[in-house]
Amino acid sequence: MTQFTFDAPTVIRVKRDGGRLSDEAVDWVIDSYTHGRVADEQMSALLMAIFLRGMDRGEISRWTSAMIASGERLDFSDLGRPTVDKHSTGGVGDKITIPLVPVVAACGAAVPQAAGRGLGHTGGTLDKLESIPGFTAEISKAQVRQQLSEIGAAIFAAGELAPADRKIYALRDVTGTVESLPLIASSVMSKKLAEGADALVLDVKVGRGAFLKTEAESRELAATMVELGLAHGVPTVAVLTDMDIPLGRTVGNALEVAESLEVLAGGGPDDVVELTVRLAREMLALAGIDGRDPAQTLHDGTAMDHFRALVTAQGGDVHAQLPIGAHSETVPAPRGGTMGDIDALAMGLAVWRLGAGRAAPGQPVQFGAGIRIHRRPGEPVSAGEPLFTLYTDTPERIPAAMGELDGAFSVVDVPPKSLPGSLRSCPPNPRPLIIDRISR
Ligand code: URA
Repeated sequence: MTQFTFDAPTVIRVKRDGGRLSDEAVDWVIDSYTHGRVADEQMSALLMAIFLRGMDRGEISRWTSAMIASGERLDFSDLGRPTVDKHSTGGVGDKITIPLVPVVAACGAAVPQAAGRGLGHTGGTLDKLESIPGFTAEISKAQVRQQLSEIGAAIFAAGELAPADRKIYALRDVTGTVESLPLIASSVMSKKLAEGADALVLDVKVGRGAFLKTEAESRELAATMVELGLAHGVPTVAVLTDMDIPLGRTVGNALEVAESLEVLAGGGPDDVVELTVRLAREMLALAGIDGRDPAQTLHDGTAMDHFRALVTAQGGDVHAQLPIGAHSETVPAPRGGTMGDIDALAMGLAVWRLGAGRAAPGQPVQFGAGIRIHRRPGEPVSAGEPLFTLYTDTPERIPAAMGELDGAFSVVDVPPKSLPGSLRSCPPNPRPLIIDRISR
């Protein structure tokens, strides 16, 4: 048998110079990095080379398999009810997992949701949920299984699932290597395939607030991930959704939890409700559950009951006050008219600057940092009224956040019109929230 020997500088040079990584090189580098034999600085260089040079589908597939093999793979085949999960490629104000998981559980499926922390300018479900006093995402496999069988839902840190992704994800967050199709596809799919759900729905973001900026790239990402899922025997569907403007009226950890509670109570912004219900329908169809209306669970209290049960099981206090930044500042409307555009990327960066995300690995985040959006595209605006409120515990961060908002929104002359939930951005470029569905 041929014995392959590798070293990090050679592997880095192959990719740096535009070469293809062999299956053996991929297996070696992922295993060595997971076990501390490849240093962070070496993996950072390789990630940057991948960012710049890309990987073909074969390399992505092997990289994903190697990340899955770096840890354990859960198996819920004996649970007695179908399991299904969704994952988003990352957006701004994207709190959908929080209402979605209990909605789907209330309809009879079980959702083992291995979630992530904030990445780049986007927030992470775990950082959001940890803003609930007492809530922990660090739960044992036994507890995940127990919650799935009793409540139908668990939202947990990936832990021993794809530990290579955990390390690489944290490194990408602080080395400018997030926005890479191969790295996003392998990161999402390694966690999701290791968590053992029977089926997967992917919410692939398109637009300024997404990691990949063009629709063509997002389509390629969706197709790549659907293929990876199917290759591993997991029925997988992707929905392309708009991320040109933020979802809902809040961006930031605790603010997004509060808005999710409004949705679970039967209210909340149209776009958050629409996307929650659409993704729930996709998940239930893949899980083979019909006859249950996910929208109904938001009105009859059953989704809220499941959310409270989940939070309580994971140590959270459902009655506790959610934190809010001690300092706030408003952005007034420069003139009257109609709210025009809101740039999701600028909003995400502003919230990150307020303290909601990390600039170094492992840094704590501010749960109360964020932005409340008072006027959404298409809504009437009076001169001088607050358009946005910024929150942070560290007021010295406010000027930089304000700088991000400079030029990031507009108030326009077109007559106010209330846009239906399926049209998000303002005329002249109204765009649907749900852009397409990709399956095979
Ligand atoms: N979500 C992930 O899990 N990984 C990414 O790279 C992007 C979004």
